[in-house]
Amino acid sequence: MLEADPDSGITLLRSGEGLERVSLKGLELRLLASGDGTELILHKLSAGSHWGLSPADGWTALEGLFMISGRLRWTGGAGDKRVLQAGDFLSASPVLKEAVFVAETDVEFLYCSSQPVFHHYSNQIRELMSLAVDIEQKDGYTADHCHRIMRLSMMLGETMALSSTELAYLNFGSFLHDVGKIKVPDSILGKPGKLTDEEWRVMRMHPTFGRQMLHETGLPSLLSAGPIVEQHHERFDGSGYPLRLKGSEISVASAIVAVVDSYDALTTNRVYRPGIPKAEALDEIDRSRKMYHPEAVEALFQNRDRLDG
Ligand SMILES: [Fe+2]
Ligand SMILES: [Fe+2]
Repeated sequence: MLEADPDSGITLLRSGEGLERVSLKGLELRLLASGDGTELILHKLSAGSHWGLSPADGWTALEGLFMISGRLRWTGGAGDKRVLQAGDFLSASPVLKEAVFVAETDVEFLYCSSQPVFHHYSNQIRELMSLAVDIEQKDGYTADHCHRIMRLSMMLGETMALSSTELAYLNFGSFLHDVGKIKVPDSILGKPGKLTDEEWRVMRMHPTFGRQMLHETGLPSLLSAGPIVEQHHERFDGSGYPLRLKGSEISVASAIVAVVDSYDALTTNRVYRPGIPKAEALDEIDRSRKMYHPEAVEALFQNRDRLDG
């Protein structure tokens, strides 16, 4: 365990150790040191995972990232892509615009910040993420639903060349799309039979509940992801809910989550029925094209070979 040398004030962490550790799927954070407002956090991302830097009100930190191993792709503010490799160092003081990073391989890097972020990130976001996973399970999905929606949404977002800011919000918005279902009573969420009109009315409020919950955290990246959550059941032809928005009134990021969520609902096994094969699900989306943003459907079809199922 942690070795300290009181005479010199030095703490020694051996390989694999950390003061605190957080593991989310695809991401492991290890707090190496914390003092005088500064934090050093070791990040491990598995291939395909995303990570980001965001500006925030009152946030003036110096932030830096030193690559230890692997390949990390960074999309810059103007949409240009660069690859970071072992030995590369990137910093900002402060970060002015969202930056999104994608792990092309398993990646390890040291992140430092002159303002503490570890608990902030680890508590609030982790709580919401685990809430989102739990609630989908209550609604008959497996624990992987949120992760799949996030992975597919980011795939489509990249195909559609969304800006790094939009991708940063899409990352959270897609994962947390259904978190508002936590406010829908279990008697409605778990009801085996048909819902009454009144029960449907409550069920259809989950996107709004979700936006409110993100808003309540006060975290900038979640505030901005709120509208994505609120609009994920809106449909391009105006047949969705809760606001009955249509066409360009719906944010492109939500339009992506909408088509991905439908595809996933068709292809995955739910507790009450098995999923259908990929090709049939794509045919089904094709038949109901008018409900979805045409570019989002196109992006889904373009990624056809990368879809599971
Ligand atoms: Fe939903
Ligand atoms: Fe969903």
